[in-house]
Amino acid sequence: MASEEPAPPFDWSVEAYQVHESTVARRSGLAKGTTMALLIRKATLSDAAAILPIFNQAVLETTAVWSDQPSDLLGREEWINIRIEKNLPVIICELDGKVAGYAALSDFRPLDGYRHTKENSVFVDNTLHRRGIGRALMVSLLQRAQQCNVHAVVAAIDAANGASISLHSSLGFKQVGRLPQVGRKYDRWLDLIYMQMSLKASPFTQES
Ligand SMILES: CC(C)(COP(=O)(O)OP(=O)(O)OC[C@H]1O[C@@H](n2cnc3c(N)ncnc32)[C@H](O)[C@@H]1OP(=O)(O)O)[C@@H](O)C(=O)NCCC(=O)NCCS
Repeated sequence: MASEEPAPPFDWSVEAYQVHESTVARRSGLAKGTTMALLIRKATLSDAAAILPIFNQAVLETTAVWSDQPSDLLGREEWINIRIEKNLPVIICELDGKVAGYAALSDFRPLDGYRHTKENSVFVDNTLHRRGIGRALMVSLLQRAQQCNVHAVVAAIDAANGASISLHSSLGFKQVGRLPQVGRKYDRWLDLIYMQMSLKASPFTQES
């Protein structure tokens, strides 16, 4: 196999996404012209405590995560740490100084032939859905994926998760596969949908 240049480290000094604060404020029922301080930044281990309840709400109350077991603090710290050590982006969205959601890239599959493909995840505090936070996180994540030469991003989504399918579709992801009844939760079978974005052909430049 030909040798390749290693992926450059992320340039965290670049704030890749200019947040549409007015959209977040409008969807939050605030008066026109009101802005909210929305910040997207790199996660640190100390964010584990804030992302724990966001993740566990999805585990315990939805089929977004195919597990019945809530995480604990150590589990979330390990989840963040693995990505930091692999130089994979794991990002936090703060709304008025409080963690409102997070997103990350993971290795898609362990064999080295898959090294240019990553899987994304995105979670928003369920009291803050539909305010543009998920989109802001995903745009920032995709821009960071481009910075380190990721070729393809795959989302593995429960077929009944209309919000996530719609979010990914709106960003340009295409549905590329459906695996019927490969999961089980709440005593029912779940279908898995794969959606994919090929970054080399995507509109996710720094300007978009
Ligand atoms: C999926 C999720 C991240 C979306 O986050 P969000 O902040 O609510 O999404 P946004 O407000 O940024 O919405 C962006 C777009 O996504 C789509 N969308 C989001 N929620 C939707 C819903 N409930 N129904 C239909 N479309 C929806 C829309 O296209 C929306 O654009 P619009 O508001 O201009 O119509 C959020 O619902 C979530 O955290 N769900 C639980 C965890 C999860 O499912 N994660 C994904 C696992 S693959």
